[in-house]
Amino acid sequence: MTSVGDSARAPVLAAERISKSFGDVQVLFSVDFDVLPGEVHALMGENGAGKSTLVKILSGFEQASSGTILLDGEPVILPPNGAAEALGIVLIHQEFNLADHLTVTESLFLGREVTRFGMLDRKHMRAETRRVLDQLGSRIDENALISSLAVADKQMVEIAKAISRRARIVFMDEPTAVLSREETEVLFDQVRKLRASGTSFVFVSHKLDEVMELTDRVTVLRDGQWVKTAPTSALDGEAIAQLMVGRELSSLYPNKHEPDVDEEIVLSVKGLSTGFVKNASFELRRGEVLGFSGLIGSGRTELMEAVAGLRPRLSGEVWLKGAVLEPQDFREANRRGLAYMTKDRKGKGLLLGEGMTANLTLQSMERHLRHIYLDPASEAKAMARAKRRFDIRVRDDKIKVGRMSGGNQQKLLLAKIMEIEPQVIVIDEPTRGIDVGTKQQIYHFIAALAREGRSIIVISSEMPEVIGLCTRVAVMREGRMVGLLEGEEINEQTIMRYAAGLKRQMAS
Ligand SMILES: Nc1ncnc2c1ncn2[C@@H]1O[C@H](COP(=O)(O)OP(=O)(O)OP(=O)(O)O)[C@@H](O)[C@H]1O
Ligand SMILES: [Mg+2]
Repeated sequence: MTSVGDSARAPVLAAERISKSFGDVQVLFSVDFDVLPGEVHALMGENGAGKSTLVKILSGFEQASSGTILLDGEPVILPPNGAAEALGIVLIHQEFNLADHLTVTESLFLGREVTRFGMLDRKHMRAETRRVLDQLGSRIDENALISSLAVADKQMVEIAKAISRRARIVFMDEPTAVLSREETEVLFDQVRKLRASGTSFVFVSHKLDEVMELTDRVTVLRDGQWVKTAPTSALDGEAIAQLMVGRELSSLYPNKHEPDVDEEIVLSVKGLSTGFVKNASFELRRGEVLGFSGLIGSGRTELMEAVAGLRPRLSGEVWLKGAVLEPQDFREANRRGLAYMTKDRKGKGLLLGEGMTANLTLQSMERHLRHIYLDPASEAKAMARAKRRFDIRVRDDKIKVGRMSGGNQQKLLLAKIMEIEPQVIVIDEPTRGIDVGTKQQIYHFIAALAREGRSIIVISSEMPEVIGLCTRVAVMREGRMVGLLEGEEINEQTIMRYAAGLKRQMAS
């Protein structure tokens, strides 16, 4: 007989010697992993380490090539495509899985609609949806169409869905990548509450601070292999990072390189307004890395999209290398050497159903024309060069971009932008969903581009990133530029004060 103590420690779900291959490419190698009742278990590893693949296997969305899954100690074969939810196993996907044409209520009750006298009981379902959303502190309208929601709200709906299904084990694949700090706090509070009532969570994340804050145990994968499982309290950020990359990380940020004060001004924005952004002005010098900080929704992306010609301006001027840049002409901006790298690499940046080369040369096709035909040899050369320069690592050259890991997608996007040989590069959230090793590489790429004399604008919600990379930092708040920091002023407290609107109060 097992004592109560023993059974409390017995895993709810366990994976034994799980291997997985896609075609001839093996991506998981005999991995062991288990989930205890009422624990939050972090799953970490570099981009492409196999985290998403493992959680898909453990929730029935992929099938292992070999190995065993145990549920309450008994071997099971999980039913496919989300049917494991009936067993209490829910996966919140890294790529959202909500159908755009449904309402919030409909997606919560999809496949388990409530009926009354044979009719759908919409009222009951709406009320239940409201209750769960309120519990999450979310103000999303239960009647809203999924397609009308912002990414963070879609994430909340996924979480509401898991809660309303009374899941026993919830897999969350990078749930906070698109959440603001406040939304993340709300999510974590819910996770802690549910954990206390016995629900287990597997939390896939690249954010070390969140892992330290929330989780009980950590498992690290590297190149598809299990490396370590340990209590979170026995590790620190440094130790986890080292387990992930398998080598000592040199300094994350490259040395800053201050441009000379008399360097040429390559970009000048004067009094620019859109609907939300009001009267923004700034200058960018040759070889400069200028940061844009601020809370999510403060108008940084909207401002830069207007600068790059991707959205209309109400007023104001943009000067690029001494000549006016007309509004809403992205192609002209590109042609004149201003490139914009979106934070939405999956939605706007890359064609996920195409291969790497088609994506790489999309904006620079005319460089590879021979008469009127695309020259494959010339494209292949560009691809080989980009792979070397940005260290894009794939095991199969013909892979569809949608199947590449986030880090490799991001490097490909950067390579694509560089194909137009821009003088000014705007990079929105350079490392969202990217592991530490790849982050470090991307930071060094950015620094190298600046040293070559290119000018870079980095929009980032990760404060250490703007602090580590930029020689000047603009702070935005509610559509306005409220601060422009230099030198010693570039620190978390000062940035936060401006971003949160405390600075003006203090001054008055
Ligand atoms: N359906 C698929 N077909 C072919 N290869 C795949 C498929 N899905 C994943 N892969 C490959 O399997 C490997 C592991 O990918 P996975 O998505 O599990 O990594 P990850 O650890 O979640 O990375 P990230 O942190 O970037 O999300 C990668 O090399 C990826 O390209
Ligand atoms: Mg993943």
